[in-house]
Amino acid sequence: MSRRRRIYEGKAKILYEGPEPGTLIQHFKDDATAFNAKKHEVIEGKGVLNNRISEFLFKRLAEIGVPTHFIRRLNMREQLIREVEIIPIEVVVRNIAAGSIAKRLGLEEGTALPRSIIEFYYKADALDDPMVSEEHITAFGWANPQEIDEMMALALRVNDYLSGLFYGVGIRLVDFKLEFGRQFENDMMRIVLADEISPDSCRLWDIKTDEKLDKDRFRQDLGGLLDAYREVARRLGILMDNRPTKTSGPRLVSSK
Ligand code: TMP
Ligand code: ASP
Repeated sequence: MSRRRRIYEGKAKILYEGPEPGTLIQHFKDDATAFNAKKHEVIEGKGVLNNRISEFLFKRLAEIGVPTHFIRRLNMREQLIREVEIIPIEVVVRNIAAGSIAKRLGLEEGTALPRSIIEFYYKADALDDPMVSEEHITAFGWANPQEIDEMMALALRVNDYLSGLFYGVGIRLVDFKLEFGRQFENDMMRIVLADEISPDSCRLWDIKTDEKLDKDRFRQDLGGLLDAYREVARRLGILMDNRPTKTSGPRLVSSK
């Protein structure tokens, strides 16, 4: 069997050449990193969960008309995607203060923000992905004003839709990060949602208990990352709960 050509390896994913021109295979690894990979661990099973969760969310977003790079899931760890030219900007949407904004502006974690706030970070590991403004993005030519408007409009649609979707399963969407790419077809170019949306790239808190169900469990050494990701998948209806039950008697099934 011939080896596939590896196009790119990131911290949590690998991109391979796809079966047809214009396609790639996105492979989800089990590696968890934080603080620009200064902290690193392999958490067996994380990649499988992120592949499923990201597939689910990208499909739902496509259904409401958000263009994405996703074509189909291939197996437990891989999905077929459209090849795009990644815009080197991380678009972060925040609803509740947590993480870097809480630190930067001295806000108490958990404070509702006056409105959803969009931030941009320049994708550059050597610089620890610095926050940048629209001025930097246009001056350095990373994206033009029209592309920025398009990314912001899509990011807000994603936020509205995913906030509701997660709320329906008892999860608060605190914040998340998106990446976009340029897809070229004939003479046309369009901006599409790329990369992944998973508990690696979102903050997800249980509505009732505020329990963290995302990568902060790893960043903050809280443990139980896999159980948290499994819980997110279970609530979304992706994963059947097939863990052994503790009792052999009848199980109480909540209707909520
Ligand atoms: P932050 O509070 O650390 O700036 O993170 C904001 C959101 O972006 C949070 O949901 C985690 C996500 N994120 C990534 O997906 N990748 C990153 O490299 C960073 C720093 C944050
Ligand atoms: N993904 C980044 C890293 O690997 C940062 C983070 O998610 O906290 O360092």
